[in-house]
Amino acid sequence: HRTLRVALLGAGSVGSQVARLLREHGDDLSERSGARLELAGILVRDIDAPRDVELPRELLTTDAEQLILGADIVIELMGGIEPARSYVLQAIRGGADVVTGNKALLATHGAEIFEAADQVGASVSYEAAVAAAIPIIRPLRDSLAGDRIERIFGIVNGSTNFILDKMDREGLDAAEAQRIATELGYLEADPTLDLEGYDAAQKAAILASLAFHTRVSLDDVHREGIESVTADMIEDARRAGSVIKLLAICERIAADDDGDDAVSVRVYPALISREHPLAAVHGGNNAVFVEAEAAGPLMFYGAGAGGAQTASAVLGDVVSAARRHLAGGVGVGESARQNRSVAPIARITTRY
Ligand code: HSE
Repeated sequence: HRTLRVALLGAGSVGSQVARLLREHGDDLSERSGARLELAGILVRDIDAPRDVELPRELLTTDAEQLILGADIVIELMGGIEPARSYVLQAIRGGADVVTGNKALLATHGAEIFEAADQVGASVSYEAAVAAAIPIIRPLRDSLAGDRIERIFGIVNGSTNFILDKMDREGLDAAEAQRIATELGYLEADPTLDLEGYDAAQKAAILASLAFHTRVSLDDVHREGIESVTADMIEDARRAGSVIKLLAICERIAADDDGDDAVSVRVYPALISREHPLAAVHGGNNAVFVEAEAAGPLMFYGAGAGGAQTASAVLGDVVSAARRHLAGGVGVGESARQNRSVAPIARITTRY
């Protein structure tokens, strides 16, 4: 097998699981991808920081430039905008294929990154950026590429679903439920990203961009979080046969006065009938419904967060990137062309 050098940027809960799985399942991944995947190094902030998963010390580095320079595939799992953005652009310009789970980066700088990839024929894959291991990016990009997607809606944030579910099923107040979610490590390092709906809005922007072949960024998304949801509201909903869920909704809406199709993307706590399948999404799970013209309604369900779960999606993208790399960059996995935003939809609106 030809050897491909893999650079891993970030060794947090997802990065450390990617490193572990790459080493444990290296032989299987080589068989599947046709290339020997050599973990060339792991970029960390502090080499001596304590970690849950033991990582080989000789692989740890604080020298991003050097690590990226020699890589065929760069996995970015640092989160946040900078320095992740600069590193991803550097990797692309250096001819590497990029795999990222960074929803904040894609939802704010997606256009810049995909354009850069387009220019050099590199691929950027991001199955891990939305709903962890649940395959949703590839189905939208590939499996449904021949259909016309009308609507996507569902629960794309695990921690707020966990909190609302605890309040609903155990009668806890918001502060108590949030405390447990924090203890279990479900919330982002900055919990306002989850609680105020930013995380869900970033994912909604990514899904809407793919589904509607346009470019929707975080600023285009109408966003309300769960901060204002009280135990009383949940109790009232229960009496009315409903449950409160934080929903992300992306849909084509009727043409406006100019006759242009428009897209509405929004995140807010909504009342759902207890009869609806979304009401049965408990704990930190996610569920995404996709409605396409010919396919009809489809449902995607599973764990929406977690180190190993998200690492599964990352490694799937790594195998695809390796196959693509070996095939000379065409025909396998995604091409830069598919990343390009074509924008047949003229307007983006938060109207609803
Ligand atoms: N904080 C995110 C969530 C993690 O709760 O869903 C997964 O993206």
